[in-house]
Amino acid sequence: MDLKEKLADLRQQGLEDIENSQDLKRINEIRVKMLGKKGNLTGVLRGMRDISAEERPKVGQFANKVRDELTAAIEERHAALEQAALNEKLKAETIDVTLPGSPVAQGQPHVIQQIIDQVVDLFVSMGYEVAVGDEVEQEVYNFEKLNLPKDHPARDMQDTFYVTPSVLMRTQTSPMQARMLEKHDFAKGPLKMISPGKVYRRDTDDATHSHQFNQIEGMVVGKHITMADLKGTLKVVARSLFGDKLDVRLRPSYFPFTEPSVEADITCFNCMGKGCAICKHTGWIEVLGAGMVHPNVLKMSGVDPEEYGGFAFGLGPDRFAMLKYGVDDIRNFYQNDVRFLNQFDEKG
Ligand code: PHE
Repeated sequence: MDLKEKLADLRQQGLEDIENSQDLKRINEIRVKMLGKKGNLTGVLRGMRDISAEERPKVGQFANKVRDELTAAIEERHAALEQAALNEKLKAETIDVTLPGSPVAQGQPHVIQQIIDQVVDLFVSMGYEVAVGDEVEQEVYNFEKLNLPKDHPARDMQDTFYVTPSVLMRTQTSPMQARMLEKHDFAKGPLKMISPGKVYRRDTDDATHSHQFNQIEGMVVGKHITMADLKGTLKVVARSLFGDKLDVRLRPSYFPFTEPSVEADITCFNCMGKGCAICKHTGWIEVLGAGMVHPNVLKMSGVDPEEYGGFAFGLGPDRFAMLKYGVDDIRNFYQNDVRFLNQFDEKG
């Protein structure tokens, strides 16, 4: 067999091997075996020495052609195998997005928070600003500036947790009245604020009392604000929370920081005023305290009571929630039993 035939054989065998190779490892082996320094092609070319001078260029040319062909075939096969390997890998790693996922439990705001959000949203829609105060408050704001001087008997009703002799856990959200009155620039228009938050009292916990509960304070101070504005505003709140047909009634009451002071009742939403167990057969349910801001409160916060006046109210979202859902023990709201809380899923 002369050199040319050997080269032709080599090419034939090589191309076959290349075509039959099934993975990258094999094609790399073939590359080394064929084209490597100690490979078959080098081996055959060693025979060049023995051929005549006029044959040599031709054979040399053919040898180059064989080498180029083999190189190209190896590269092509290598690329194809690499692509196949990649496709295989992608297929193995495919995620089937049509498979049902494992459900993620979704919570919802606490039922009392839902009521707070509803009330706050309502007032924001009427142009009130939301003012959130601190639960740890100075005695001056919690009592003094609300017309409750030291030794005032009404302090006893709200006796509370003192942090220092002059700092306490606030007993009501009303301190925000004084704080906002001090801050407000009346040249820019009336003050309209709503202030939700937690309050504390040294109460013994029972079905209707908790040492910590929530209040929502509201206040409007400006020019020509009357008690009719207060009543109209409360009607909007009652109707938006409990139903269109409800009415509001005001009864005289007493708070040191309002004059006159009132307790507001709404028509019992359960019997619509006929009388039932929920309203203790009166047809009315007491929902909040309110009144016209006391001139002393305005004065102490630097607002002239001759020029400005307005109303304030404080309502209890915990109590609203009890009424709305017929819950008879306030402690249920704070025990964090999800079996109880999940009943108030906003999403229904
Ligand atoms: N702060 C009063 C309370 O806690 C409620 C109230 C607020 C009354 C505003 C009048 C005006 O009982």
